[in-house]
Amino acid sequence: MSTALCPGSFDPPTNGHIDVIERCLDVFERVVVGVIHNPSKSPLFSAEERVGLLEDLLTDHPRVEVGSFEGLLVDYAKTVDARVIVKGLRAVTDFDYEFQMAQMNYELANMDTMFVATSPVYSYLSSSLVKEVARLGGNVDSLVPPLVAQRLQEKFYG
Ligand code: PNS
Repeated sequence: MSTALCPGSFDPPTNGHIDVIERCLDVFERVVVGVIHNPSKSPLFSAEERVGLLEDLLTDHPRVEVGSFEGLLVDYAKTVDARVIVKGLRAVTDFDYEFQMAQMNYELANMDTMFVATSPVYSYLSSSLVKEVARLGGNVDSLVPPLVAQRLQEKFYG
């Protein structure tokens, strides 16, 4: 069975993330969504919260599994038996860093990376901007699933 690993911070998951994951399902039989848990960073949503959000958002997709990892991505890829890492590319500005990581992961473990060009409607979308807009009271309803919009509202406005 061919498995793709979609890794990321997902702080929080956006419509762009869901789009990439759903498009992976057209190509791969199994998709593992890997949420990074980096103890030296302070995300808005804990790793447990991000995993819970993604599980709820992807509940209609039985071929998707959600997990979290610490340390090297290639080590996690091996534990979930992933053949390939899949990342979304929004614009050329993403390319340099993503290409560097892809080459490093190949060097470390012969792990291939494939890129999905995100839908143009999501090309400007990032979790950081979503957080900023939500924190400043802007409407994020068209950028994130309703559950995420609700959780952002609770985080910032209680
Ligand atoms: O959503 P993001 O922030 O673009 O995700 C970045 C992520 C989690 C894919 C990246 O930070 C990562 O792979 N971290 C694991 C650490 C690692 O393996 N580093 C060495 C290879 S580049």
